[in-house]
Amino acid sequence: MNLWKLSVGIFAAVKSVWTRGSPFAALTALWPTNEESKFIIQSEGIRLAFTNHGAAVTNLWLNNTYGEEIDVVLGLDDARDYPALQSNPFLNGVIGRYSGFLSNSSYPVDGTIYPVMPNAHNNTSLFNGGDKGWGRQTWDIAVHINNSITFVLFDNRWNGFPGIFASCVTHTVTPYEWRIAFGVTPLLKAGPINLSQQVFFNLDGFRTINASINETDHGMVLDHRLRLPVAGMRFDVDERGIPTGDLKSNREGTEHDFWSAEKSIGEGIKNGLAGLDVTYALSHKPSGDKEDEPVAILSSNISGVTMELYTDQDALHVITWNQDRFGSLQLKKGQGAGNVPRHAAISLEMQDWPDAVHHPEWRNRKTIWGMDGLYTRFATYKFSVAGKGNREET
Ligand SMILES: *[C@@H]1O[C@H](CO)[C@@H](O)[C@H](O)[C@H]1NC(C)=O
Ligand SMILES: *[C@@H]1O[C@H](CO)[C@@H](O)[C@H](O)[C@H]1NC(C)=O
Ligand SMILES: *[C@@H]1O[C@H](CO)[C@@H](O)[C@H](O)[C@H]1NC(C)=O
Ligand SMILES: *[C@@H]1O[C@H](CO)[C@@H](O)[C@H](O)[C@H]1NC(C)=O
Ligand SMILES: *[C@@H]1O[C@H](CO)[C@@H](O)[C@H](O)[C@H]1NC(C)=O
Ligand SMILES: *[C@@H]1O[C@H](CO)[C@@H](O)[C@H](O)[C@H]1NC(C)=O
Ligand SMILES: *[C@@H]1O[C@H](CO)[C@@H](O)[C@H](O)[C@H]1NC(C)=O
Ligand SMILES: *[C@@H]1O[C@H](CO)[C@@H](O)[C@H](O)[C@H]1NC(C)=O
Ligand SMILES: *[C@@H]1O[C@H](CO)[C@@H](O)[C@H](O)[C@H]1NC(C)=O
Repeated sequence: MNLWKLSVGIFAAVKSVWTRGSPFAALTALWPTNEESKFIIQSEGIRLAFTNHGAAVTNLWLNNTYGEEIDVVLGLDDARDYPALQSNPFLNGVIGRYSGFLSNSSYPVDGTIYPVMPNAHNNTSLFNGGDKGWGRQTWDIAVHINNSITFVLFDNRWNGFPGIFASCVTHTVTPYEWRIAFGVTPLLKAGPINLSQQVFFNLDGFRTINASINETDHGMVLDHRLRLPVAGMRFDVDERGIPTGDLKSNREGTEHDFWSAEKSIGEGIKNGLAGLDVTYALSHKPSGDKEDEPVAILSSNISGVTMELYTDQDALHVITWNQDRFGSLQLKKGQGAGNVPRHAAISLEMQDWPDAVHHPEWRNRKTIWGMDGLYTRFATYKFSVAGKGNREET
């Protein structure tokens, strides 16, 4: 596949020159941006914008069933405002080198304990790669053509992790589809890798939000329908949010049953939950192609947009935007007025099993990557719009 070839080519370049820093730094400034300092890629029916801060997606435009162009992701209007964000990652960025919680600020490899710099839970655990996590770094851009962009990053022993990790994320759009390809080459030392791309979606382009109504129970993504066909189990967590190692069953008819049939997100939240913030285990088909069965299907009957997510990762962290509207984040200019209310958006983060390095009982899970292995993962979002001449109808 061309993307892999591209990635491998880039890694070869990286290996030969890493001692002199990123070979792509000078190139980055040469790629064209729009008036908001964003990098645009587009294909039929889909257009995306990115910033190199955290390699974050800033806009995703589609036409709804009425032919109106809507922007279905959270973000900021101007790319130059991202570095001031306190969040880790920057809104809708890459999460790495090791995303989620790494309990206990250390991890064992071959009998050696590697301590890393903690940044959470009173400095007892590491969250989203630490203070210098990949989602808070400025990435370089190796390639930018009209339907594809490749970000690169050289993590030189940041946050106490050993080794230099050369990381590459390529976004490509084809008609009504967006594909994300991750690739990492560890140099010098082995270490854990777990990458994800956070994207907070609202398939109505946030247009159901009425800035003059001060409540959170209607509109938002609560009326979106969600199905997670292969999410029969979820990871239990302790009071700090760190996985305990226990898996729980999502039995048919219970609140976390999104597998037997689609249901509205509101139904999931109404059962006494403040919002969804759950990591589901994905049971892919035992063999064969992970491209032929979606792990998540999200749709809105207001905009007529349906989104399917495909990935080769084995877990999915589903999280609704759970901050209230008195948080500081505002909708973008094209999305309406006012702050982003609670439950306005949902993110489906594809990832590995949580905190797996501390669970040797999960035998043979590949969490530590050395120079012998190129870490690659993919995610593909496929969109269809009711009444449009796209995949669904052809
Ligand atoms: C939406 O439709 C208009 C008119 O057909 C077209 O110019 C535009 O490119 C479409 N937007 C997207 C994101 O495809
Ligand atoms: C922290 O992790 C190390 C290595 O996995 C382990 O030996 C130690 O017991 C852990 N400590 C706590 C308090 O969990
Ligand atoms: C953090 O440490 C302080 C002081 O030791 C303690 O009072 C507090 O409860 C701790 N918080 C957490 C979340 O552990
Ligand atoms: C955690 O450690 C950092 C760096 O040593 C320090 O600046 C910060 O105040 C600590 N945070 C807490 C909650 O103890
Ligand atoms: C992208 O660029 C190629 C070559 O420069 C061109 O043939 C193609 O029409 C462009 N596609 C779009 C959607 O602009
Ligand atoms: C928003 O809510 C206010 C107060 O209920 C109402 O007057 C107004 O028409 C609503 N706006 C839209 C666009 O629905
Ligand atoms: C909305 O509710 C919050 C908390 O209940 C309150 O602090 C705020 O002033 C209200 N805002 C408006 C515009 O009514
Ligand atoms: C749209 O979805 C909502 C919530 O999922 C549901 O209550 C409503 O009946 C649906 N409307 C139509 C026209 O299908
Ligand atoms: C991978 O990252 C996600 C966050 O994106 C996190 O929730 C999960 O615990 C991580 N998995 C591992 C194996 O660390």
